[in-house]
This record gives sequence, C-alpha cells and structure tokens, in this order.
Amino acid sequence: MIPTVKEFLSTVPEGQNVMVKGWVRTKRQTKSATFVEVNDGSSMTNMQCVFDQESSGSEAEALEKATTGASVAVEGILIASPGSGQKAEVKAKSLRVIGEAPPDTYPLQKKAHSLEFLREISHLRPRTNTFGAIARVRNRMAFAVHQFFQERGFFYVHTPLITASDAEGAGAMFQVTTLDLERVAKTGIVDYDKDFFGKPSFLTVSGQLNVETYCEALGRVYTFGPTFRAENSNTTRHLSEFWMIEPEIAFAELEDNITLAKDFIQYLVKTALADCAEDLAFFDARIQPGLVASLSKVVSDSFSRMTYTEAVAELEKHKAEFEFEPYWGCDLQSEHEKFLTEKVVGGPLVVTDYPKEIKAFYMKQNPDEKTVAAMDVLVPRFGEIIGGSEREWRLDLLEKRIEELGLNKDNYWWYLDLRRFGSTPHAGFGLGFERLLLYVTGMTNIRDVIPFPRAPRLADF
Ligand code: 4AD
Ligand code: MG
Repeated sequence: MIPTVKEFLSTVPEGQNVMVKGWVRTKRQTKSATFVEVNDGSSMTNMQCVFDQESSGSEAEALEKATTGASVAVEGILIASPGSGQKAEVKAKSLRVIGEAPPDTYPLQKKAHSLEFLREISHLRPRTNTFGAIARVRNRMAFAVHQFFQERGFFYVHTPLITASDAEGAGAMFQVTTLDLERVAKTGIVDYDKDFFGKPSFLTVSGQLNVETYCEALGRVYTFGPTFRAENSNTTRHLSEFWMIEPEIAFAELEDNITLAKDFIQYLVKTALADCAEDLAFFDARIQPGLVASLSKVVSDSFSRMTYTEAVAELEKHKAEFEFEPYWGCDLQSEHEKFLTEKVVGGPLVVTDYPKEIKAFYMKQNPDEKTVAAMDVLVPRFGEIIGGSEREWRLDLLEKRIEELGLNKDNYWWYLDLRRFGSTPHAGFGLGFERLLLYVTGMTNIRDVIPFPRAPRLADF
C-alpha cells in the first residue's frame, strides 16, 4: 500500500519523492503548467499535481487522457505549495493513466450535479465531494458508536435479522419465504409446514426483543445492525432498510435511559466535530449553513424536556399552523416535532409519557393507566431521532397488553419467559443511524446518507 494523500498532507513537504494514486477531479492548463487535482478518497483535499509545459510526447499524451474521473498514478516530489489554497503540492515527474474515463460518456463532469441525478448513479456518486464526505462521516460515526458503548462496559450483541415476532407490533414487515408464490396463487393454499422455517417468518424491524434477552444476563448491552420496515412511507426520513443502534440496560429506569441517550448523542456529535472537521466544514458551506455552530451548541447545552401531555398543550395553542390538528392521543406528526424543536425549545427535545395506544406493546405502563414510560428524542429539521422506553417487566401486565392488542402470544413465549425468571426493570432505546447522519451532516434526504438506499418502488438494484 502506498501512503494516502491525507498522510502526505500531514507531513512537512521537503522535496521527498512520492507516488500518488487516485482519480482526477479537475485539470487546468495555464501558459506555464498543467494542474491536475487528484483525489484518492482519504479526505476531501485533493493533491495538486503540477506538470510543467515541456512535457514530452508520451507524457503530453497521458496528460491528454487524464480527464475528470480517470484513475492515475503520479510520481514526483512533494513541495510546499507556492500557490494559495493548499499547503503542499506534487511537482510531477511522471504520469500514468491507469483507467480512462472518456469525457463523452463519464457522467460526473466538472459541473455540480443535483442530488436527484446522483441518486440514479449510486455506484458513481461516492466519487463526488458530497458523497465522499458522507461516507467518511458515516464510517467515523459507526466506529464512535462502538467506542461509546465499549468505553462504558456495554457488550455488543448480534441479534438475528430473520424472526417470527413483530417487535413493534405494527405489522409492517417483509416476509421471508421459500414458498413458490405463483404456485400458492394457483392452488389458493398457503402451507407453512412446507415453508423454510415451518412458520411465517420475517425480516426484523428491530433487534430490541432479542437484545433484551442478553440484557437480562449481561446487564449492559447493545445491538447495531440493519432493520427492515415495509411501511409505504415515501418521505425524506424513511428507508425500507436502515441501520439501528439499540442499547438496553438492566436495573434501569426511564431517567437512566434519557441520560444515556443524551450522553450518546453528545458523544457522537462531539466526535464528528473533532474528527470530521474538514467534511463538516464542507457541509456547513454547501449544504446546511450554520451546521457547525448548531452542532457545537448541542454538545454543551442540556436537552429540553416535556411530557407528551405538555407537548400537545403547546401544539394546541398553534393549531392553525398545522396540516394535522394536534389533540391528546394523536401520534405526533413530523410537522409537530419540527415545531416543538425549532420554534418552542430551539434544540433537541426529549418527550416522555406518551399515550399507550400510540406506542408499542412492550412499554411499561404508568400508574395513570393511560400513558407509558416512553421517551422520544426529537431534533430540529426532521423530528424523531431516537425512540425508547422503560420495558414492561411485570409478567401479568405484559401478557394482558399482548392480549389486548390481539398479538399472538405464542410468538412471544421466550420474551415472556424473561419476565417469568429473574425479571428486572430495564430500559433501552433505538437510534436510527441514518437519522443521526442527517443530523450531523445537514443533508436533508435520508436516501443520501446510506450508500445504497432501499425505499418503496426504488429499485436500482
Ligand atoms: O421508534 P422506533 O420504531 O423504535 C424501535 O424500533 C424500538 N425497538 C427501539 C428500542 O427501544 N430499542 O425506531 C427507533 C428509531 C427512530 O427513532 C428513528 O430514528 C429510526 O429508528 N427509524 C427509522 N429510520 C429510517 N427509516 C425508517 N423507516 C425508520 N423507522 C424508525
Ligand atoms: Mg418511534
């Protein structure tokens, strides 16, 4: 492996011989020299490679072919740049074009392309500044997730993707089957005995139920993996396949959960500000003006708090401003969440104690018998980033709720066992990883912060 451009740029340029390999971003010719900007993905910064004008025949030919998008190898010496704009540059001695990118067919030319256009070429978009930056921030955030939990004594648990139980009880699951659907249609009979697992099976919507089993043995655990939702939500906040981080803590209550969620978000934002500064500066300049200042505020400020009842009372004062009228018992719409975070508190907001009817079966019922010990963390720009709760750990109440909701108790037998044997109060939450990335990068469409988005009817695969 040769050193990366990022590594070269972190050294003091003093005439050392270097070899740079990467993709041409731009080529610019002046009377005295040709400037080739090479990016190797290691950071946003290109290596400026300078070729003087006396290039011989074969080198002139190579320079000709080094068009935007071509992969190249440049040998030369690393010197302090006399020009402004970069610290160092390569005084090039030789150029080799490894893979050409013919200008008449390569889709990514110098001009700025729309995000919509780039979404249609998800195999090439990582070669743009925006998507390169997103990929680097995504990578750093994934690592930070593990660092945060590992530093705090949490164990990483791999939960399954194939399951028989609907963790959220909302029924928006993709079925996994080896049955021949055309045959099923012809015969009109579904025989699950003949299906791969011998019963209806699905892609999981959450790792929570499984991670709870390890929570009730190891104390502090988390899972971090893909989850799947078949809801037909064609919005800028929803994906059919997204990644979720779900910590679960034993002997813990809602307050512990809220503290963990706040510490977690602040840790991630702080890490992004410290370690992805160059990429965040780009997002601040090009995508979301004020991003860095507002993230810096998130790190130092406490999160505002409100109960659901207080939140609805606040929203009811501004009824006229909403498409969906707020009332006690309604599911908070994204417009409501945005209003609360942007207009009422001006930052992240933790909303607690939601009506039990709009939350999942496993949440702990409050003494008022109307609400559950739930907590959502809402943020400006798009609303919900975290959803969590204290869990119902009392067997009788949990069984009753499962029955009330008409869920099939047999599918939850092992989940109920956790309440039969050595049950403890426990709590946890789920952070949508792509929502976090929207938050940190300032991007506005969730399809742009995952390499290969999966959404209803979007089938470029
Ligand atoms: O609020 P949700 O549905 O909660 C759960 O799944 C719980 N089992 C979590 C837990 O307590 N362990 O989802 C959690 C988070 C949301 O706050 C949101 O950030 C994200 O997951 N999310 C989605 N992200 C992208 N696309 C979707 N369709 C999403 N649905 C939820
Ligand atoms: Mg939720």
